[in-house]
Amino acid sequence: MNKTITGFSKLSKSEKIDWLVETYFKDATSTKLLLKQYWNSDKKLQQLHDEFIENTITNYYLPFGVAPNFLINDRVYAIPMAIEESSVVAAASKAAKFWFDRGGFKTQVIATEKIGQVHFMFKGDDSKLEAFFKILKPKLLIDAIPLTKNMEKRGGGILDIELRNKTQDINNYYQLHATFDTLDAMGANFINSCLEQFAKTLKQEALDNEMFSSEEKNIEVIMSILSNYVPNCIVRAEVSCKVEELTDNPNISPLEFAQKFVQAVNIAEIEPYRAVTHNKGIMNGIDAVVLATGNDFRAVEAGVHAYASRDGQYTSLTHAKIENDIFTFWLEIPLALGTVGGLTKLHPLVKLALELLDEPTAKELMQIVAVAGLAQNFAALRSLTTTGIQEGHMKMHLMNILNQFEASKEEKNKIVEYFKTHTVTHSAVVEAITNLRS
Ligand code: MEV
Repeated sequence: MNKTITGFSKLSKSEKIDWLVETYFKDATSTKLLLKQYWNSDKKLQQLHDEFIENTITNYYLPFGVAPNFLINDRVYAIPMAIEESSVVAAASKAAKFWFDRGGFKTQVIATEKIGQVHFMFKGDDSKLEAFFKILKPKLLIDAIPLTKNMEKRGGGILDIELRNKTQDINNYYQLHATFDTLDAMGANFINSCLEQFAKTLKQEALDNEMFSSEEKNIEVIMSILSNYVPNCIVRAEVSCKVEELTDNPNISPLEFAQKFVQAVNIAEIEPYRAVTHNKGIMNGIDAVVLATGNDFRAVEAGVHAYASRDGQYTSLTHAKIENDIFTFWLEIPLALGTVGGLTKLHPLVKLALELLDEPTAKELMQIVAVAGLAQNFAALRSLTTTGIQEGHMKMHLMNILNQFEASKEEKNKIVEYFKTHTVTHSAVVEAITNLRS
């Protein structure tokens, strides 16, 4: 069977599915799944989703949950989360409730600067390029006015453009390193359009520059693109309380718990193997809100992990301390988010998520997302340093196992009841179902 095809994108959706079924799938149940079960009967809504990307054959659902009772800077939020991992929303809700009773989360946006670069090759005299850049810079800004005027009216725009000499790393390699304020937009389109205009102006002005030799006039632009590394677009979220208020768990004193918790964070600060998992737990919360609000979670992931290794070793994104009997736990991360543009007005569930958050500004959303990350990390570390993670995790995972066995409602009720007093493991659940059915 020939498994390659030309002109796939030109086929209609049902032709695409027919070809896939014939070529890759065992039987027509896949057609039913793709065509009937996961398509939306509302034609307009389905078309909207079809047109988000190329070659759409169906929709891919993720659960959309809500974690209520988040007190952030004295305001209460119900946070939307799109995620498949069973325990994440439950953990966020628990952490929200816990901190609600202890003053809530305090957050602060530290900076909101975005970055983009034009990467280019210049063969010639450094000092001539530097002199040229002084004349070029105002021209770059003028030529970008048609692109920047609306953003500037709202108070954003291009903050600065620098010439960076990178010839120590690669022969003839330079950058126009530009910084931007994109207000409530994530800004990728705005930044990339400005950069592509800078590249045009750069090339043209170099050609017209009489100080340059003919080789120097021929600047080669390699690429123009925003950076998803935004170490100056930073938000901080924090919780704190008296150590004595931290737990009423009879198996561990509040001080012991606080110390163990701080040690767990210290371990993630110095041990990359632990730091990656520790930060993954933070990203459970962050990605879920980023996704629910229609933001680019790949950009956030890439930027956050680069930030976690900014000093040359991958480390924890959160920190904790006990000082004067006060426990403090905080997170500082780079987040480039938008609440206008992109999917925000297009995807109905994104619109709903933003409405649930009372139409936040990008700065507000940065704070909400950071809180979701901190809450998630708090919940994970609390479990890890006390009961272990599996107890809560497997309780939440129980439903997935039951669904794998296509358990009826009645079977589910009985088994859930049984596992209220028994430890959930995969084999214990299988045994319980088998016993129940025999
Ligand atoms: C699981 O998705 C996340 C955790 O592994 C995070 C952690 O270990 O801190 C529980």
